[in-house]
Amino acid sequence: MELLDRLLKYFSLDLGIDLGTCNTLVAVRGQGIVLNEPSVVAVRKGTNQVLKGGQAVGWYAKEMLGKTPGSITAIRPLKDGVISDFEITEAMLGYFINKVRGKYNFVRPRVVISVPSGITAVEKRAVTDSADRAGASRTYLIEEPMAAAIGAGLPFAEATASMIVDIGGGTTEVAIMSLADIAVCESVRVAGDDMDEAIINYLKRTYNLMVGEQTAERIKIEIGSAAETEGEEGSIDVRGRDMISGLPRKATISAAEIREALQEPINSIIDTVVRTLERAEPELAADLVENGITLAGGGALLRGLPTVLYKATGLSVRVAEDPLTCVARGTAIFLEHLEEWKEVLENDLDL
Ligand SMILES: Nc1ncnc2c1ncn2[C@@H]1O[C@H](COP(=O)(O)OP(=O)(O)O)[C@@H](O)[C@H]1O
Ligand SMILES: [Mg+2]
Repeated sequence: MELLDRLLKYFSLDLGIDLGTCNTLVAVRGQGIVLNEPSVVAVRKGTNQVLKGGQAVGWYAKEMLGKTPGSITAIRPLKDGVISDFEITEAMLGYFINKVRGKYNFVRPRVVISVPSGITAVEKRAVTDSADRAGASRTYLIEEPMAAAIGAGLPFAEATASMIVDIGGGTTEVAIMSLADIAVCESVRVAGDDMDEAIINYLKRTYNLMVGEQTAERIKIEIGSAAETEGEEGSIDVRGRDMISGLPRKATISAAEIREALQEPINSIIDTVVRTLERAEPELAADLVENGITLAGGGALLRGLPTVLYKATGLSVRVAEDPLTCVARGTAIFLEHLEEWKEVLENDLDL
C-alpha cells in the first residue's frame, strides 16, 4: 500500500496557476514556481488567430507589444480582469500548461487556477474547460484574493479576520477573510496599468512628450512612489517623441512629478480599501485592528504605498513577502489542503 502511495505521488503532478492580467505563474506542488511569463499572446491583426510556433505566447509575445509589424498584434487577453477572448485565453493557458507538462508528459495534472474575482460564471467555465483540454485531469478554480491570502501566510482559515489588497496590472482586489471564506470583497479596474497610463498622460500634458507603455512602466518601477520617501529621491531621463515637432527627444523628470502623476490611481485604490473596511461587520473590523492589512501583487511594490494606506485607515500595513509570486505560491499551498479547504472552490465540484 505504501509503495502504491509513493508511486501514485511520483506519477501525479499538481499545478497551481496564477492566471493574472499581467503575468501568469505556474507552481508545481512540492517544487515551487516553475514558470513566470507575461500573459501576452501574439495574434494576426484583426483576427483571433494565434501566431504559430513558440514565439506566440509569453516573453516572446511581450517583446512585440508596441513594436509589432503591421500584420501582427500582441494582446493581453485578461487585461481588465475580464476575458476579452476565450480562444486566445485558451491558447495561452494551454501553452503554459503544456510547457510545464513537457518533461512529465505522461502525467495528467490536477490544476488549481486562481482567477480575477470579477470574472463571470461563463468565463470561469471557459477557463476550466481550457485547462481540461490542455490535459488537466481535474481543474479547480479559486478567487485570486483567497490565493493571495494563503500565499501571504494570513490566518485565512482561522476565526479571525484579515485583509488582503492584491494590486495587479488590470485589477485591484480587496478582501476581508475569515474562516476560509471571503466576508467582504471589492474589485476595481484600477491597478498597475492605470499607473502607467497616468504617467503617459502626465508626460503628454506637462512635457508634450509621448512615451509608450513599456517606458511608462519602467519609470514607475524605477522612481514611482505614493508617498515621499526619505533621502534623495532623484530623477530620471525619459525618451519619447515630441508631440509638436514629432521628433525624438528626452526630458528629465523628478520623482515628485511622477508621484503627482500617480495620485489619481492611488486615490482610487485607497478609496476601495476604505469602502471595503466600511462594509465589514464590527467583529471583523475589530480583528483587523490586530491583523492589519497585507499587500500583494506587483503593485504592492510601489514605494510609499503602505504609508498612504496607513494614513487613510489607521491600520498597520505590510507588504507580503515576494508579492509578485504570492498568488501562485498560494495556489500550490492550496493543493496540499484540497480536501480540507474545498469549500472555497469557485466551481463546486464534488471531490
Ligand atoms: N517594483 C514595482 N513597483 C511598482 N509596480 C510594479 C513593480 N513591479 C511590478 N509592478 C507592477 O505590477 C503589475 C503586475 O503585477 P501582477 O501581480 O503580476 O499582476 P497580475 O496579477 O494582474 O498579473 C504591473 O502593473 C507592474 O508594472
Ligand atoms: Mg494577480
